[in-house]
Amino acid sequence: MEDISLLLSDIVLNEKFIYGVLSNVKKKSEATFNKVSIKPVLIKEEKKLQLTFEYEKKVIHENLDFLEGIEKIKGLLNEYFRQAMIFTVEADYHILISKKGKATILKKKPTKESIDLSHNRKKTYIIEDGEPCDFLIRLGVMNENGKVLSKKYDKFRQINRFLEMVEDVIPKIKTDKILNIVDFGCGKSYLTFALYHYLVDILKIDVNIIGLDLKHDVISFCNEVANDLNYDRLKFIHGDIKDFTELDRVDIVVTLHACDTATDAALVKAVNWEAQAILSVPCCQHELLDIIHNPIMVPMEKHGIIKEKLSSLVTDSIRANILEILGYSTQLLEFIDMEHTPKNILIRAIKIDKTNKEAVKQYLDFKKFWGIEELYIEKELIDKLNKHLDI
Ligand SMILES: C[S@@+](CC[C@H](N)C(=O)[O-])C[C@H]1O[C@@H](n2cnc3c(N)ncnc32)[C@H](O)[C@@H]1O
Repeated sequence: MEDISLLLSDIVLNEKFIYGVLSNVKKKSEATFNKVSIKPVLIKEEKKLQLTFEYEKKVIHENLDFLEGIEKIKGLLNEYFRQAMIFTVEADYHILISKKGKATILKKKPTKESIDLSHNRKKTYIIEDGEPCDFLIRLGVMNENGKVLSKKYDKFRQINRFLEMVEDVIPKIKTDKILNIVDFGCGKSYLTFALYHYLVDILKIDVNIIGLDLKHDVISFCNEVANDLNYDRLKFIHGDIKDFTELDRVDIVVTLHACDTATDAALVKAVNWEAQAILSVPCCQHELLDIIHNPIMVPMEKHGIIKEKLSSLVTDSIRANILEILGYSTQLLEFIDMEHTPKNILIRAIKIDKTNKEAVKQYLDFKKFWGIEELYIEKELIDKLNKHLDI
């Protein structure tokens, strides 16, 4: 193993390493994984070795400093594997371990090209196509080699867009304590898993994430996936948003495409917890459809298709305005949705503990303009709102 140690130190520390695979598990070993692939990665501007352990139904990544990584590879070859392929910029090495543990290293001409890990490397997505990512493989968005399936490309783009929105939020909130996060109406939870992967595996932030949904089948499916992936600080619970009492303090509330006033129930919870950040993509905003009316707007109201969009926009504008009154800085951003419907607005709100006084007047005038008496969200937050509306 001494020769292997020298070889690995030379190629890794001198940055000649491109890619490696350990395979052919020793029959008598107790390994539960079948293969380990290794590549250099940049994580938060630090160079690491990423070891991807491939099991029957899941993959697990370990990101290690170079020296730790070398030790780990040596240990794996010692105990579990009989073969390794190591691709470098100078040569390909084929390592064979005999039954007695003797290593033979065969050197061949290089067949792979160097990958650029420099800081200037252009990164198009937070999670890249071509890089195996455990939850995306488990959910069938990528294949085992990290290739995104063509029919899942929209989902892949949506996940990355969502993570970009989260990426902007993180520097604006406190992450010194464990972050409690709830995803209301999580459904099949692609975005919940993405959030966990991004915060825990990439940013190394301590989190406790709960996904909540009304559907029993999706909850048991998501718990099974979280378990397979070893996402041990992510759990899924069955229940209705308005009845959720599992946590007393929640830092980030996510609610993506929860229908109609379910979005409002989530916003109400977030405001009552004084959540540091809210990410919400509303959907099916029916509440105001038969309520809003202003004689000047009749040219828009008389067309069903326009009125539906109009009432969604009015609803989301009021939601954003209420959040501004209650101490949030609010932005409405375009979110890639799976369908081209009005459901592509994301409300991103950050707690700033400062009331936007202009928002109070805007809110009252706007409601009057549309003939709106009282909305679900207003009714639920009336005590808090009254403190501001009376001034
Ligand atoms: C359209 S799916 C969205 C799933 C996921 N958030 C996404 O964006 O891919 C909406 C989910 O919200 C759940 N939902 C709707 N109303 C809810 C409520 N009051 N409490 C909990 N879940 C609710 C539904 O069961 C459904 O799974």
